[in-house]
Amino acid sequence: MDVSDDDLLAEQRSYYRARTPEYDEWWQRRGRYDRGEEQLLEWQRQVAVVDDALTSFGAKGLVLELAGGTGWWTERLARTADRLTVVDSSPEVLALNQERVGRSDVNYVVEDLFDWQADSKYDAVFFSFWLSHVPRARLGEFWSLVDSCLTPSGRAFLIDNRNDQVPSTTTKDPFVVQYDTDLHLRRLSGGSRYRVVSVMYEPGELQSLIEAEGWTTEIQATRWFIFGSAGRL
Ligand SMILES: C[S@@+](CC[C@H](N)C(=O)[O-])C[C@H]1O[C@@H](n2cnc3c(N)ncnc32)[C@H](O)[C@@H]1O
Repeated sequence: MDVSDDDLLAEQRSYYRARTPEYDEWWQRRGRYDRGEEQLLEWQRQVAVVDDALTSFGAKGLVLELAGGTGWWTERLARTADRLTVVDSSPEVLALNQERVGRSDVNYVVEDLFDWQADSKYDAVFFSFWLSHVPRARLGEFWSLVDSCLTPSGRAFLIDNRNDQVPSTTTKDPFVVQYDTDLHLRRLSGGSRYRVVSVMYEPGELQSLIEAEGWTTEIQATRWFIFGSAGRL
């Protein structure tokens, strides 16, 4: 299957629109993602490591968040940015984001990132749990978009899922009904099924791929997250 085709990317957009009411269960480790107290504490410990790295990065000045979703990191970015713009293809997730963040000075844009050009330059571009949804064949195109959004000294910060190095039935997502190369078949609680791009990188591979696009990077990882910054060479 061609995992970069337009139908698949449209299905991915539909999936996140339909998933809006249940999306936060994943981040908050509740409902179908509840794995007990010990795993919740481990999750929070790793999130804190990522959060510290974002603090060191310093998302200041004009900040752009790509695929901002329901706003867990938007809220965090709004604290340090002078001006924050959030782009996502789903009006439903952005409505939830706006409600959560509660800031009238955040600029929300409903657009498809595979078909969008920024009309401003930003000091920092941030994207969390998005790069894994960019097909490998479109990685170069995506980093060109990031490049076009940044001021000459601007930098990017990313966070994403990492394949568990010690996988177990308790860490696997029960709502992924089929794993293929760079592709998941996922279901929502109502039973509907969607194909979603899912490219899981290890730090070394991701660093090499981004550097091959003309960037210098510093990519790190915890057990469940991969994160880091990129600036132009
Ligand atoms: C895994 S979520 C990540 C959301 C958020 N960054 C977070 O950390 O929770 C992926 C997001 O990408 C958005 N998305 C999917 N396809 C998109 C596209 N083509 N253009 C823009 N956003 C898209 C979805 O609506 C969803 O909010």
